[in-house]
Amino acid sequence: MLKTAKRIHSLPKYVPGKPVQELERDFGIENAIKLASNENPLGPSPKAKDAIIQAASKSHLYPDGDSYFLKRGIALKEGILPNQIVLGNGSNEVLELIGHCYIEEGDEVLMGKYCFIVYPIVTMLSQGTIVKVDMPNLVHNLSSFKSSITEATKVVFLANPNNPTGTIVSTEEIISLLEFLPEDVLLVVDEAYSEYVESKYRLNISTIIKKHQNLLVLKTFSKMYGIAGLRVGYAMGSEELISNLERAREPFNVNIIAQEAALASLEDHEHVARSIKVNNDGMLYLKTEISKLGLKTYPSYANFLLVEFPLDATNIYEELLKHGVIVRPLKNYNLSNCLRVTIGTREENEKFLGALKKVLGSIK
Ligand SMILES: Cc1ncc(COP(=O)(O)O)c(C=O)c1O
Repeated sequence: MLKTAKRIHSLPKYVPGKPVQELERDFGIENAIKLASNENPLGPSPKAKDAIIQAASKSHLYPDGDSYFLKRGIALKEGILPNQIVLGNGSNEVLELIGHCYIEEGDEVLMGKYCFIVYPIVTMLSQGTIVKVDMPNLVHNLSSFKSSITEATKVVFLANPNNPTGTIVSTEEIISLLEFLPEDVLLVVDEAYSEYVESKYRLNISTIIKKHQNLLVLKTFSKMYGIAGLRVGYAMGSEELISNLERAREPFNVNIIAQEAALASLEDHEHVARSIKVNNDGMLYLKTEISKLGLKTYPSYANFLLVEFPLDATNIYEELLKHGVIVRPLKNYNLSNCLRVTIGTREENEKFLGALKKVLGSIK
């Protein structure tokens, strides 16, 4: 019998948010909503939609493997050079490239106790050793990160804001960690949700990657830019780090439609402003209404909210499904009492709250 590689057996499975169509099929319902994967409820920017239609007629061609125009668009936005950027099929692929290039058997890889589940998956695929760092009140404690560094530490993963908690640390704390780290330890700051935060919480990419050769900053077009379905993410770092990641990358990893839609999204500042407003209003509304139900939420700096229940929240998740509402259960994140809820449009938020009230009423 064919023997599977040992590292595959114990690999945690990435369970994505349930697709709307699947729920509607399973329960024979219509108009279900998904607040489970932190997508932009407004969808893609109108400029991106136009670009998608234009690019469709070029689908018979291979994409530009070097994403010339998109890299230049990002470089302009971030004040860096195109060769300080590597693009991925979502930042998920960039995380895999980091595993391929920088994690080997026996290397210790640090991450918060409640971190994005792809970090442990990538570490295990590369046969590294996962080291989870405590997160009091679900916030990264960078002093604990510092004291967890050993001779064997190779990579540190830090999402800021963090998924699934929504919590944040200051840029001063991150810079202090960077200055503390030995030069042969790679710090990966994952800013997937950074467009939702005030600029003081975002690293100044152009200056910091010049100063620190052991830093990669990741961003994505899946959240604020609303094109999760097209899969575009990227890492920024020194030319040397980027050229290594480029070597490990599949030649045509970002498709032709995705490249053009991402570039158009970058230019749609109005859509970004609208998306921030919908998120801020929805966050305030949901937090206020959820607290009226006697439930705890954690301070969130992203486009989702962590809601804590007195007991295991699996049945609440399942009951919400019956009402056509998909949120994210967090058992595999060791937060079984919590559900993660993406901030939706006003209508979606109201539908979620209405369903939650009914479910809580039926359980009491
Ligand atoms: C912190 C974080 N990083 C990376 C990703 C991956 O994003 P994508 O692969 O869609 O770019 C996600 C997605 O949820 C995330 O929450």
